[in-house]
Amino acid sequence: MTTGRKGIILAGGSGTRLWPITMGVSKQLLPVYDKPMVYYPLTALMLGGMREIAVITTPEDQPAFLRLLGDGSQWGLSLTYIVQPSPDGLAQAYLLARDFLDGAPSAMVLGDNIFFGHGLTEMLQIADRRDGGTVFGYHVADPERYGVVDFDDQGRVKAIVEKPARPPSNFAVTGLYYLDGEAPDRAAQIRPSPRGELEIVDLLETYRAEGRLQVERMGRGYAWLDTGTHGSLLDAGNFVRTLEERQGLQIGSPDEIAFQNGWITAEALAARAAKFGKNGYGAYLKSRLKEMS
Ligand code: G1P
Repeated sequence: MTTGRKGIILAGGSGTRLWPITMGVSKQLLPVYDKPMVYYPLTALMLGGMREIAVITTPEDQPAFLRLLGDGSQWGLSLTYIVQPSPDGLAQAYLLARDFLDGAPSAMVLGDNIFFGHGLTEMLQIADRRDGGTVFGYHVADPERYGVVDFDDQGRVKAIVEKPARPPSNFAVTGLYYLDGEAPDRAAQIRPSPRGELEIVDLLETYRAEGRLQVERMGRGYAWLDTGTHGSLLDAGNFVRTLEERQGLQIGSPDEIAFQNGWITAEALAARAAKFGKNGYGAYLKSRLKEMS
């Protein structure tokens, strides 16, 4: 399954909330149990059928991402690297990615967002077929830390409010945004907020005002995990470990998903497994290859 939609991973930012850890390394390269954080959002886009993906990073961190992910061909992907000179807001990504997108619709995922759940692929396919924009709402205990959906009586979106002191609902907007080909033009129209950033909520508002923004609710059977604090980062790692050890199936393996999607051959997957030698990941890929072919 491949779509004409292009993917964007936004992995910029200075990660100040995790200092001093992130003073020396990009937040999105930190481990979440057995994988670098960016593997999880990357594989979410792959499950959504995207093979052309731009990775947006700070200038300093770009070489590290390149070392980790390469050109993407090992997974049947084409990766493009774009620098975000300074973190001037999530909506800025659409300006930086304008040439890469070249008019195509996109799905942008934040490099620190982890999604897990049965039916994720189908949910992404539905969003892929829609016009306008789609965001995903997820019920959380602490909505004030996120963009929050304000619904009217009929359950339609009235507004999306960024980190409100008094949240209008418990539905946080996750860091996965499906927008049509107009997103770069619309991002060029919005003005920086009082904190000097091009806000994603302002970009989404341009769609909502025209009745072209859908909020897809991610039900309680999904996990949307946060890595914004030391505690939540550790929790996310423990979550991944718990499931992987119980099921013997890994979360966020680009190699496995590339093979599943038919983007790499069995021989290519075997070669990848060999590259990891006798370590756990290599052994895992070998066993999946056997089971899946
Ligand atoms: C950003 C967005 C916010 C969204 C969140 C999801 O916040 O601004 O609307 O809910 O990502 O991870 P940040 O984590 O950059 O503060």
